[in-house]
Amino acid sequence: HGTSTINAKGHLEIGGCDTVELKEQYGTPLYIMDETLIRARAREFTEAFRQSGLAFQVAFASKAFCTMAMCRLVEEEGMSLDVVSEGELYTALKAGFPAQRIHFHGNNKTPDEIQMAIDARIGCFVADNFDELHLLNALAADKGVKVNVLLRITPGVEAHTHEYISTGQTDSKFGFDLANGAAYEAVKTAIGLPQLNLLGLHSHIGSQIFEVEGFKVAAERVSEFAVKVKRELDFIFKVINLGGGFGIRYTEEDTPLHASVYVKAITDAVKHHFSGVYDQLPEVWIEPGRSIVGDAGTTLYTIGSSKDIPGVRKYVSVDGGMTDNPRPALYDSKYEAMLANRASEAASETVSIAGKCCESGDMLIWDLKLPESKSGDLLAVASTGAYNYSMASNYNRIPRPAVVFVKDGESHLVVKRESLNDIIANDLIPERIFKQHS
Ligand code: LLP
Repeated sequence: HGTSTINAKGHLEIGGCDTVELKEQYGTPLYIMDETLIRARAREFTEAFRQSGLAFQVAFASKAFCTMAMCRLVEEEGMSLDVVSEGELYTALKAGFPAQRIHFHGNNKTPDEIQMAIDARIGCFVADNFDELHLLNALAADKGVKVNVLLRITPGVEAHTHEYISTGQTDSKFGFDLANGAAYEAVKTAIGLPQLNLLGLHSHIGSQIFEVEGFKVAAERVSEFAVKVKRELDFIFKVINLGGGFGIRYTEEDTPLHASVYVKAITDAVKHHFSGVYDQLPEVWIEPGRSIVGDAGTTLYTIGSSKDIPGVRKYVSVDGGMTDNPRPALYDSKYEAMLANRASEAASETVSIAGKCCESGDMLIWDLKLPESKSGDLLAVASTGAYNYSMASNYNRIPRPAVVFVKDGESHLVVKRESLNDIIANDLIPERIFKQHS
């Protein structure tokens, strides 16, 4: 996919860069991000919105992959940015991302985080509960400003990969429930709080979704609610945000739709439900994360030991694992992989790819068909651009890998590999412990 090919040496090449050379230059494990593909994915969304004729914002959900270089790229592509913590906010601001295009999410924003975001003059807060509405109002009052707010609504639609479930009442830590009247109360509360400027409504129905039905139902519920609010409270929402969740291909079982199909379904639904009700159609915002960066990422590992249990299974271990990709252990996620240094050779055995962490659950891929591999071969795991680097840990005190952007035969380091000194950088040894031993 993307700009990946197999070159004359039989090596996997991404963005015109030979992965064997990338290993020599940067070491492994290495996250390789295909910059051309990220930009292409971003443009699929923005182009589809331009076709719709509606005012829009496409906000990249930075939780999927948040680095300063990525924030710059998001800025260049004209997208907005969704952040959910002071760490993501700080990264964006330090990268010079325009604060007006930052949206702040989260079900437990701390006073410090809110103050930091107000000081930076971010575009809007997506308020999640009543406590937050009052906290936002109080902190904005302290600073003598008004803040823009969207209300996160729980529309009673839950989408799963291949189906969506429509529930009457949703048991969720997020948002104001539509069915039990909390959403309606939240609108009244927000309108009544003097420092809040209520811009609109937000809903997010799930992640890795392969169909449009759930988005259509969410749009319908949100619009029915907007109609009721207009009739009873004479209030008009300027923005309808339908969240993220657009699915990508990890393995051949996955059947993602083109971005334009999701966007058309969403914009058509908004047009359909709001025409004749609102004089002017609302702006439509979305928040794709995975679908912007997911399939642009490849993780390159070096193969080390193998263990063959005759008649049972062959384990092939790599120099990373659940520390750089916790998704198989957390969600039972499936991945595809190939030998990057012998990319044109045919598969000849079935192996299971193990990570190097001290627990049996640290398995990246079960039953993968590969050419017979040996220590020193390179394994490339595909579609690791989303929720891998951003969810990486230092379990077993393993340093986090480096990240490179590749494009047109050039590679640029965007995150340095962590060093052993980084690992101990925040450690302190209380004097008392030294004394006890002396
Ligand atoms: N907007 C909101 C409010 C969200 O909660 C999320 C994801 C997104 C947008 C972006 O969703 P996406 O387009 O990336 O599907 N760690 C999990 C995914 C968690 C998603 C959480 N929220 C994983 O690795 O699959």
